Amino acid sequence: MLKLKGSIEIPGDKSISHRALIFAALSVGKTKISNLLESEDTKSTINILLSLGINIKKHKNDWIVIGNGTSGFIQPLKALDCGNSGTTARLMLGTVSTNPIVCTFIGDKSLSKRSMSRVTDYLKKIGAEVSLTRGDYLPAMVQGNQNLLPLNHKMTTASAQVKSALILAGLNIQGITRIFEKKPTRDHTERIMKYLNIKFKKTKIGKNGSLIELNGPYEIKPRDLKVASDPSSAAFFIIGALIIRNSKITLRNILLNPTRVEFINILKKMGGKISISKKKLVCGEMVGNITAEYSKLKGTIVKASLSSLLIDEYPILAIAASQSRGITKFKGLEELRYKESDRIKSITRNLKKLGFYVVTKNNDVIIHGSEHKIKKPIKIKTFNDHRIAMAFSILSVIYDNKLNLDNEKCISISYPSFKKHLKKLLVNV
Ligand code: S3P
Repeated sequence: MLKLKGSIEIPGDKSISHRALIFAALSVGKTKISNLLESEDTKSTINILLSLGINIKKHKNDWIVIGNGTSGFIQPLKALDCGNSGTTARLMLGTVSTNPIVCTFIGDKSLSKRSMSRVTDYLKKIGAEVSLTRGDYLPAMVQGNQNLLPLNHKMTTASAQVKSALILAGLNIQGITRIFEKKPTRDHTERIMKYLNIKFKKTKIGKNGSLIELNGPYEIKPRDLKVASDPSSAAFFIIGALIIRNSKITLRNILLNPTRVEFINILKKMGGKISISKKKLVCGEMVGNITAEYSKLKGTIVKASLSSLLIDEYPILAIAASQSRGITKFKGLEELRYKESDRIKSITRNLKKLGFYVVTKNNDVIIHGSEHKIKKPIKIKTFNDHRIAMAFSILSVIYDNKLNLDNEKCISISYPSFKKHLKKLLVNV
């Protein structure tokens, strides 16, 4: 029998890595970025910034970016390939829109099925010329311009990517850009701006809403950045430790931003033994060490209002639910339909195939936990989705590695060393 034991270094946070690169590119001068996530998604952002004339080089373990300012991009000579990365596409659409250049954005098959109008509808309102394939998808063409309008935006979908795209555009727009969000989403863009001394206002509106006000254009002074370790990647091993008997692991310097670690609150409610120590601030973000050990989990109800704070963790939370006593109900998962795969479908289809009783009603997912055994190998369809692949790789440990994933390569989208790290933590009881 296998258990998880010991400690590994979780790579840099994906969301912060994209932002560190983009903000360094928009600063005037040199930024050193350490612990940058090196994965397929962040490579897409690096390659696009290179095509836009930004100098980016790796030096020992760090990355050096020489930024050209908020209006410093040059006309790219080829299409900007976002690969599988929604964050690259959405954030860069906003970023290039204020530069007088024409950019064509392309992406892989999965990204080309994901909505871009959720960003470009706002960009059109402020004066950018945009054309999308079939009105919503990549390939997209953006004709940017230096005189975009400072407007008030009311976001209809809770999305950190959309919010960040509008902020990134606002950095190079003359006058006051206001962005209102009804529900909280990850706030790394705001935190990085504070760390870089970019003057803006964020005010709470009502119970969950907030208003961001920018007064551009800005000249950003470069400041070295250290990326905290990714809690969404850590979640696979944290839940692994909770559900695999006799396990106990510690993961160091994990990002503890409240918009990212709601999954820990849910797991604690389910009976998960998780403790956090050695908290400290790194470049405006809280980090700390997380210890998790085997626990007898019980089912729970997860409110729809929390969905924007759990968006990347639902696949592995579903695995935790499958190993819990009783029923877990995840409510209001509509946004999961629009991720790297339709994650409601990819989670439920695979769990059902493994013999779990799972019900989807509207966009609620109800999972009945069960301790049944699996006798023969079962094929898991990952839908080329990195988080589905990692979630079922963890579950596979419980079933003596009887789950065969149809595609493990997609894991390199966010966590190329995942398999190596899993192997390192696995020991015989
Ligand atoms: C991200 C935001 C989230 C998340 C994605 C990364 C970001 O998407 O799912 O993996 O870095 O802004 P939305 O908030 O746009 O749904």
